Amino acid sequence: MTPPGDAAVLPESAAAGPALPDGDAGRSYLPGMTLDDYVRDVVAPDALLRSVLDFGRPGSRDVLSALASKVNEFDDDDTGRGDSYRRAQRDATVRWTGMRRMLRLCAPTAATRESVVLDVLGGDGTVARAVAVQDDASLPGLTLLTGDVSARMIAQALGHGLPAVRQPADFLFLRDASVDAVLLAYGSHHISPRDRPAAVREALRVVRPGGRVVLHDFHRASPMARFFSAVVHPHTEAGHDYAHFSRSEMTGLFAGAGVPAQVEDLYDPLVVAGATEGEARRRLCDYVGAMYGVGHVLGTQEGTDGAWRLLQDVFDHGEYVAQHAVDPTLPRTPAVRPARHGWLAELPRWALVAVARKAV
Ligand SMILES: C[S@@+](CC[C@H](N)C(=O)[O-])C[C@H]1O[C@@H](n2cnc3c(N)ncnc32)[C@H](O)[C@@H]1O
Repeated sequence: MTPPGDAAVLPESAAAGPALPDGDAGRSYLPGMTLDDYVRDVVAPDALLRSVLDFGRPGSRDVLSALASKVNEFDDDDTGRGDSYRRAQRDATVRWTGMRRMLRLCAPTAATRESVVLDVLGGDGTVARAVAVQDDASLPGLTLLTGDVSARMIAQALGHGLPAVRQPADFLFLRDASVDAVLLAYGSHHISPRDRPAAVREALRVVRPGGRVVLHDFHRASPMARFFSAVVHPHTEAGHDYAHFSRSEMTGLFAGAGVPAQVEDLYDPLVVAGATEGEARRRLCDYVGAMYGVGHVLGTQEGTDGAWRLLQDVFDHGEYVAQHAVDPTLPRTPAVRPARHGWLAELPRWALVAVARKAV
């Protein structure tokens, strides 16, 4: 879908901005911004947002009301780890290997047509910013629309100049068939198991016929899930008591929505550069510490050496590689290697990705 560049080509209702449910215009929506402010100042000047958003959908009223009082662990460091998470994501390219593969799965025809991808758990637009920085020749014509339930995340995404909308995964303020692909990634385990069927149904509702929905998360038995339960959960105030996925849960979610899905294993490492071997290793430890709010835990492990040993221990993929049919030639433990300009520290992670195509 090409985002319309001219309001004249939009349906009349879209050109005027999305309809608001009665009595909701003055409701708080983003920090210091009512829904009315957002529609007037953010949506109206943006052709893409104008064309896809619809706050008048049945049920919007209740969802907007719930959002107005909702606090999220990704808002800031007082409510969880929002500030430190966003600090880590200043370098949006650390997860580019996995992001690139997922975007190729979302939009295999991106080379021949413009594609709009809704990033449902988009945070402050990490994936959108990575796409802009990488300017990857195999992914031309991609526009990312960032969604998130956290008000602070969406405010930051807008601050980065990105099109963004605050909405929960299980109720999207988007018109039917309005985007080319939907990505549910980097945090799908935060969607409660009760809401997951609705999140998948919503993704399939807003994607155009023939478009893809890609669902990414970590296997329950993966080293990443072990890191959350052994390190993040016991050592952070907000904890991390979320259920990760299995292959059968992923296929079952799509089957329940009447659409078959293929599940594949996705190599999704963290890769950080440094001028020296030691700097690359330290910067990777700092990234993990900030992203997961466990800098204090890694910092207590006798400096970088101790932090690195802890990561090598938790992210040892030997058993996972033996039990799952994943490429055994890829790194199995965190390692540092020389690169063209300096050094790269790489922390391996294997994720599960379900890919579904909406019937034409
Ligand atoms: C781990 S962060 C990932 C952010 C970004 N995609 C990235 O990779 O940096 C997970 C995000 O999911 C959001 N989130 C959690 N539950 C959600 C839900 N039910 N609906 C929409 N967003 C949700 C959080 O607010 C958070 O910003």
